[in-house]
Amino acid sequence: MSVTDLPKVEVKKGLDEVYVKETLLSYIDGANGKLYYHGYSIEDLAKHSTFEEIAFLMWYGRLPKKVEFEKFVNLLKSYRWISKDLVEYMKTLPKNAHPMDVLKLGIAAVALEDPELEDMSREANIRKAMRILAKAPTIVAAWHRIRNNLETIEPSMDLNHAANFLYMLKGEKPDEFSARIMDVALILHAEHGMNASAFAALVTGSTLSDIYSAVVAGISALKGPLHGGANERALKMIMEIGSPDKAEEYVLKKLARKEKIMGFGHRVYKAYDPRARILKEYAKQLSEMKGYEQLYKIAEKVEEVVIRELGATKKVFPNVDFFSGIVYYSLGIPPDLFTSVFAISRIVGWTAHVLEYWTSNRIIRPRALYVGELGKKYVPIDARG
Ligand SMILES: CC(C)(COP(=O)(O)OP(=O)(O)OC[C@H]1O[C@@H](n2cnc3c(N)ncnc32)[C@H](O)[C@@H]1OP(=O)(O)O)[C@@H](O)C(=O)NCCC(=O)NCCS
Repeated sequence: MSVTDLPKVEVKKGLDEVYVKETLLSYIDGANGKLYYHGYSIEDLAKHSTFEEIAFLMWYGRLPKKVEFEKFVNLLKSYRWISKDLVEYMKTLPKNAHPMDVLKLGIAAVALEDPELEDMSREANIRKAMRILAKAPTIVAAWHRIRNNLETIEPSMDLNHAANFLYMLKGEKPDEFSARIMDVALILHAEHGMNASAFAALVTGSTLSDIYSAVVAGISALKGPLHGGANERALKMIMEIGSPDKAEEYVLKKLARKEKIMGFGHRVYKAYDPRARILKEYAKQLSEMKGYEQLYKIAEKVEEVVIRELGATKKVFPNVDFFSGIVYYSLGIPPDLFTSVFAISRIVGWTAHVLEYWTSNRIIRPRALYVGELGKKYVPIDARG
């Protein structure tokens, strides 16, 4: 016997074109390659705003006034420290653990120390979102130093989110240009609609689980190579290619084997990703400054070949993960930290989506279409042969 009354439903593989909530947070115009946060164009924000201001915008739905912004930034800074116990615990982890796995552990551990963990008021949840955002760079930087047998570095109250991360990572304050580029990279990664990690966070939030759990779910989904893990792999590919004259053959061979080129393609953008356009310019400038022009030239050639081969036919263009790798590498960040850098920004988007959803929550509970047999006879294990 099989299911006789299979409903006439379409299974939307990959939830393509499925809308799960209304939002004021961001709008992606995929056909024209445009992105807006709360109605502000990403180009304007990248030029004039700061990452902290974007966090305020996402959580409070408007740009801050000067005095309230100062208060907000100071509170955020005051949350940067992680406990000595957590640092000691991190020292016990295997040194080859992936930074994204350590970030998951770190955020879960911070939750246990948060006295407001179960307080579901909006005010407490914003404070928790701030703590997660403030502590995540400290966890990532601390892990990088611990795994390299270096002393961890205390956060600085003098630096903004972006510069403080670079400082805790490398032990020296970044120059102004590097700090600004890091800030812009964080702005560009802060929010991007209902992608896989935002959805993972939202599903978790919709059960009225706590906001830390939602973020851990987001980190877990972001880790995958089809999502945030693409930036690390894109740079590794560029390095593997080795020189611009080898790029064409490399890409064509990969495409012939039906392999994906990391850092290209997008579910929503069917045009050039506007974030990639901004990062490409910075990748060019920074790689020239720091002596990595060769990497940029290889990337440019890969881009040319992929667009030539897939641009018109499959609408495949560079996404945010393609040029971000060269930017991060030129800033002295090792490739296996790239996805964690993405995460320390995207915490803003994940938490903002969960907070927005909680204003009229309904548990997310879709269906799976059963297509198998029914009424099978159970055979005891000893009788199965
Ligand atoms: C982002 C991504 C997961 C979107 O997946 P999706 O919406 O399911 O799109 P599809 O994989 O169905 O792609 C549509 C077509 O374009 C092709 N395509 C998409 N991205 C491609 C890429 N990076 N390299 C080569 N071909 C690609 C697919 O092979 C497919 O071709 P087909 O119709 O002949 O099968 C996909 O583009 C990808 O895997 N990119 C590489 C990983 C990456 O950079 N992720 C970061 C995203 S921000």
